[in-house]
Amino acid sequence: MPSVQAVAALEDWAPDTWRRFPAAQQPRYDDTAQLEQAMTQLAQLPPLVSSAEILSLKQQLAEVAAGRGFLLQGGDCAESFDDCRAPVVADRLKILLQMSLVLVHGLQMPVLRVGRFAGQYAKPRSTDSETRDGLTLPSYRGDMVNGDAFDAASRRPDPARLVQAHARSAMTLNFVRALIDGGFADLHHPEYWDLAWVRHSPLEAEYRRLVDSIGESIRFMETLVGDALTGLNRANFYTSHEALVLPYEQAATRQVPRQWGWFNLGTHFPWIGMRTADLDGAHVEYFRGIRNPIAVKVGPAMQAEQLLRLVDRLDPDNEPGRLTLIHRMGAGHIGQGLPPLLQAIKRSGRQLLWCCDPMHGNTETVAGGIKTRRFDTIRRELELAFDLHADAGTRLGGVHLELTADNVTECLGGARDLSETDLARAYRSRVDPRLNYEQALELAMLIVRKHRQDKSASGGKDTGLPLA
Ligand code: PEP
Ligand code: CO
Repeated sequence: MPSVQAVAALEDWAPDTWRRFPAAQQPRYDDTAQLEQAMTQLAQLPPLVSSAEILSLKQQLAEVAAGRGFLLQGGDCAESFDDCRAPVVADRLKILLQMSLVLVHGLQMPVLRVGRFAGQYAKPRSTDSETRDGLTLPSYRGDMVNGDAFDAASRRPDPARLVQAHARSAMTLNFVRALIDGGFADLHHPEYWDLAWVRHSPLEAEYRRLVDSIGESIRFMETLVGDALTGLNRANFYTSHEALVLPYEQAATRQVPRQWGWFNLGTHFPWIGMRTADLDGAHVEYFRGIRNPIAVKVGPAMQAEQLLRLVDRLDPDNEPGRLTLIHRMGAGHIGQGLPPLLQAIKRSGRQLLWCCDPMHGNTETVAGGIKTRRFDTIRRELELAFDLHADAGTRLGGVHLELTADNVTECLGGARDLSETDLARAYRSRVDPRLNYEQALELAMLIVRKHRQDKSASGGKDTGLPLA
């Protein structure tokens, strides 16, 4: 139960009170009757997740915030309706499972897996419209809103897509749950997560050694106890997406029997994007009223004073697991931008979860207008983040990544040292460049290496890093 003050502050809140505030990044629907109809339909459809799952995730996030775990949040920049297919969904789980295996083994602590999936269908854009050859049309805002093809029909924001997004999210989550229930994540069978194209990866040997060593430990323990270890055949996955299109989120907001307050039952862990984190904006108004654990993206322009007010508004009770701050500063800005925020939050006595998104502050455009990110820059931001937290006496408890299990060439560098000429070969993202399978796995290995280095440099003492 929230405090008396927090309950009082929510007396004027309802799932639609965000409408009284300026709402950034919203599609302009030309047919409001059609929008109403879609919302009515959505509000009646069964939800995607349960309040019990949401509360359990909140508890686990509280554990991570207290230093007893690490958060791995990742997935596509934007899901697409076309990619709602069995192999794509399964491969996405495979890469997250492999990365979490590397992290669990290296950090010696539980890893909480949260996918950017089953609802990551809406994107903030830097401009409302796009002009090509003299023709101006609305920007593509994700499959939940409109189509990517550059023609008027496709770019028209279509409310029917809101219902389709819900259906695709349900199909995705249903398949994820079926795979997990069927033993797909069983630690006895890490070969289930093998990806066909990586046989000759430069990282293959290191990963195999790790899998073999885990297999040996499991066999040893099972011989010792004379029985199969239980619990190894299950792994929880939680879902998250940027809760951007507020009519969609409103329709997913429900009350449930025997629980106080409102839940967004469209995802476990929604986040507020950097462009919609205005204290007086509609998104903050919406988020303050839901009981889910929530996250906020924090960019280089954020001032300490502003962040403290935001945190007070979104988490007035300093509730364990409620709030995660995902900083995404860019390797060139984090050194200046992050420390004052860490100090301010530390001084406020709050124990929230800090997570680093080393992707979104490091996007650049290379020749030919292609958007990319350099592996080395991503790595640098992440390493700086660990160091800055250690200096401040705070703890970096997670990473937030854009990745795919496909053999894409969207980010430069990494084990195969992809170059600008490689980008054209397999660039598939419609929005931001993602780490491919190898780059993602390499980053997980780097986190472990960094952890070990820092631990031995400090003589095994607590450095604020994810320690065993
Ligand atoms: C994203 O996570 O895809 C995104 C748009 O991030 P940000 O809000 O941090 O720019
Ligand atoms: Co993105």
